[in-house]
Amino acid sequence: MKIVIGNDHIAVDMKNHIKKYLEDKGHEIINVGTDSYERTDYPIYGKKAADMVAKGECDCGILICGTGVGISLAANKVKSIRAVVCSEPYSAKLAKQHNNANIVAFGARVIGTATAEMIVDEFLNAEYEGGRHQKRIDMISAIENGEM
Ligand code: RB5
Repeated sequence: MKIVIGNDHIAVDMKNHIKKYLEDKGHEIINVGTDSYERTDYPIYGKKAADMVAKGECDCGILICGTGVGISLAANKVKSIRAVVCSEPYSAKLAKQHNNANIVAFGARVIGTATAEMIVDEFLNAEYEGGRHQKRIDMISAIENGEM
């Protein structure tokens, strides 16, 4: 898969760990995050990654900041983005299967690398189930488009 990864200064080490972990599995990782520990602003990287996913330039995205919250909030402001913060693998799997999430986010200050690996594995391996879930995804899009 072609996956975009974005992060702020809090999550450089976690980003590098997950990037290598996924590259070792054969994925192509596009790094739009910061590689510096110098303080910066997470919306920059949430937007960059979200734009690539929204334009279809990547299959999906991974975002990491201190908590995963700020960077996912920023990403969710981009049309068609469904970014979810997960601190355990079960939610990551269901977020893809039921919610057709296209970005998974987590916090470098919240979880360790082993849990992060499980989260990305579940997210990337799961498939959207469609069916009864599509109506709800369509409703989310309707909210986004001001139709509801
Ligand atoms: C940066 O200090 C921190 O606020 C950020 O990494 C993230 O946790 C925001 O949600």
